[in-house]
Amino acid sequence: MPITVTPTGAALGAQIAGVDLRHISDADFAAVHRAWLDHQVLLFRGQTLNDDDMIAFSRRFGELDFAPIQENGRRFVEGHPEIYVVSNVIENGVAIGSLGAGEAVWHTDMSYLDDPPKASMLYAIEIPPAGGNTGFTNMYRAHEALPDSLKRRIAGRRVKHDGTYNSGGYVRQGVTPTDDPREAPGTYHPIVCTHPETGQKCLYLGRRRNAYIEGLDLSESEGLLDEVWQHATRDELTWYNTWRVGDVVLWDNRCTMHRRDPFDESSRRIMHRTQMKGEARPVA
Ligand code: OGA
Ligand code: MN
Repeated sequence: MPITVTPTGAALGAQIAGVDLRHISDADFAAVHRAWLDHQVLLFRGQTLNDDDMIAFSRRFGELDFAPIQENGRRFVEGHPEIYVVSNVIENGVAIGSLGAGEAVWHTDMSYLDDPPKASMLYAIEIPPAGGNTGFTNMYRAHEALPDSLKRRIAGRRVKHDGTYNSGGYVRQGVTPTDDPREAPGTYHPIVCTHPETGQKCLYLGRRRNAYIEGLDLSESEGLLDEVWQHATRDELTWYNTWRVGDVVLWDNRCTMHRRDPFDESSRRIMHRTQMKGEARPVA
């Protein structure tokens, strides 16, 4: 079957059919790579992958990051430090993964690092009967669509990407939480970045909580961030995946953000994730 790329029709995302990610030719991989840059998020349905398969496919994009250790524990698969488990399942009193069953607020992965991952890939192993959908927002369009007055106010500025909380609101391991954005641990990146592969400008916001625009009064920073975030997360910039078991979703972490709807905590959701290392610091 030839590979096909079908745009979602929303602001970003495309579904790829005709590939088995366990056996993908160089030509098909080149088409996938091109589609990933063009559509920012790719959905592959009906995949059957073990952790080695996930790692092998992910490595075609480059080197992998190790999973972050969060929420006071180990949240990766024994023998596979590259695999991060996103799950609400508790086994023998211990959570097997991160993020629980609550909402995961809009964010981009691990942007509190100097060199954030360029891509992340989630594979659905068990999904709840309802809820737990994952949404993505197009940060190229978010930048494009900003009113000129807002563009001027953020021009040349850097924003702090908080390292205190993960997207589920849990405190990262080893961090003493503070809610003063000026004091919180994190990394400054330019608010408007240039994508290293496409050369296009995008907004790069990371996450809202404890964000801080360098050089502004706290209240001024809060006000400006609220305005920019409101524009960047409007429904018309988003696309949501309604998960099925066997779905693989691969996103470009440099020009998208994502969030997750909450789901009933008595149902089970198990996803495995890999992350591809960034090759360059985010630059203006
Ligand atoms: C992630 C993440 C959301 C989800 O894995 O980085 O934010 O839908 N997951 O589980
Ligand atoms: Mn995430």
